[in-house]
Amino acid sequence: MAVCLSGPVCRGLPVARMPRQDSGLAKKLFIKTYGCQMNVYDSARMADVLAPIGYEPVSSVEGADMVILNTCHIREKAAEKVYSELGRIRRLKEERAAGGDRMVVAVAGCVAQAEGEEMLRRAPCVDIVLGPQTYHRLPEMVARVHRAGGGRVLDTDFPVEPKFDALPGEAAPQGATSFLTIQEGCDKFCTFCVVPYTRGAEFSRPAEQILEEARRQVAAGAREITLLGQNVNAYHGVAPGGGEWGLGRLIRALAEIEGLSRIRYTTSHPNDVDEELIAAHRDADALMPYLHLPVQSGSDRVLSAMNRRHRGDDYRRIVERLREARPDLALSSDFIVGFPGETDRDFEETMRLVRDVGYAQAYSFKYSPRPGTPAALQPNQVPEEVKAERLAELQNLLAEQQRRFNEGTVGATMPVLLERHGRLPGQLVGRSPYMQSVHVTADDDLLGTIVPVTVVRATPNGLAGRVSGAAPASAQAGLREGSAV
Ligand code: 5AD
Ligand code: SF4
Repeated sequence: MAVCLSGPVCRGLPVARMPRQDSGLAKKLFIKTYGCQMNVYDSARMADVLAPIGYEPVSSVEGADMVILNTCHIREKAAEKVYSELGRIRRLKEERAAGGDRMVVAVAGCVAQAEGEEMLRRAPCVDIVLGPQTYHRLPEMVARVHRAGGGRVLDTDFPVEPKFDALPGEAAPQGATSFLTIQEGCDKFCTFCVVPYTRGAEFSRPAEQILEEARRQVAAGAREITLLGQNVNAYHGVAPGGGEWGLGRLIRALAEIEGLSRIRYTTSHPNDVDEELIAAHRDADALMPYLHLPVQSGSDRVLSAMNRRHRGDDYRRIVERLREARPDLALSSDFIVGFPGETDRDFEETMRLVRDVGYAQAYSFKYSPRPGTPAALQPNQVPEEVKAERLAELQNLLAEQQRRFNEGTVGATMPVLLERHGRLPGQLVGRSPYMQSVHVTADDDLLGTIVPVTVVRATPNGLAGRVSGAAPASAQAGLREGSAV
């Protein structure tokens, strides 16, 4: 399951890493991030590896000494979007060159991995093409570009040395909510998905390395950590005393870190939900009662063609067991409509599964053929207008479920981690345990803290609430007061 929670959109760097004022001395680094949280994390780590050689993040491409496009290839015309962005950057690079300044242009991430040589050929303004597994070597690549007569660099290997060992221990703080990649790559080969080709084979970081990074993040102010991986619950890292830990065991160890109030993980495969993980949902208070568990389709025929290796009923059973362990668990999922060969009846099975499970929120996409994946070659592609109709129908149902879920929390008091300023003066925005975004009016000094909030109203974009008296003992306590989830 790729960690893509909102499609290929462009995101900035995490708040605490937001560009500093121009010091006049440092070289300016502009990173544009597309796609998933793993890319957001990777962008932040690229900034970390470039900091020792004098690069400082800035928020505008104008005047940048180095530009990195960190790309995503999961759906729809990703490569074309990158090439058109490169057209704009080429003009800026030429303007800079006319003024005697150099701009280094790098393309990173999954489009870079997939395009490789082709990108150097098609976009002469690009100096560096690097895959998701090689960004720890960026300083070396930049040095090669700057060397007298220096050339262009293509580095899309899947290196033997794990990049995490080579990254600097110290990472710039990410704020009250931070990401921590614990696993990368995927061996599942769903027939629609590029991830096994662009991110490579599954790899889990050693547990001690993760615990250390988590302790550092907490010391730097993190109250919530989201564990990331393309297939995060396939995690099987070396345990501190030898042997191996799965995700459930790792979460239990992380839950003991003082000051770490919230743990989340994304994104998961149903087949990798094991007893230990279910037990963690029951026992670890810090593990938030929200789970993104993609199912993709409710039709067994389509699931089999997708090579998902589970049926709709297997998924229903897993959800049932998770809910036995954590009755207030809110679920999210990914769905693909119009997979090759999907009939009206198959689609109805998806709608039935959505009604059976009930989601707090979900992401749904039209199937998009990805070059090099088996499903792209299937002859029975579904016409675009059928995909669009099915998507609209599914999204109506999911939106209705989300509305009901949000309305079910009105009147409840929940702990909310206040993360950022809202658009209105005096407004702060945070997250409920169930990932709902909650707007409150509150003093700035509450930013980065967890406060009890009584939900006053459900809005199209989340919840409006009021900071209230004593904090509820747990997320569960919060919902019991007034919900019908
Ligand atoms: N077409 C449409 N959606 C896709 N996804 C992955 N590959 C494709 C594709 N070829 C969706 C899946 C996955 C999410 C990250 O993106 O639902 O879980
Ligand atoms: Fe997820 Fe399947 Fe893609 Fe792996 S191949 S990242 S399990 S969708």
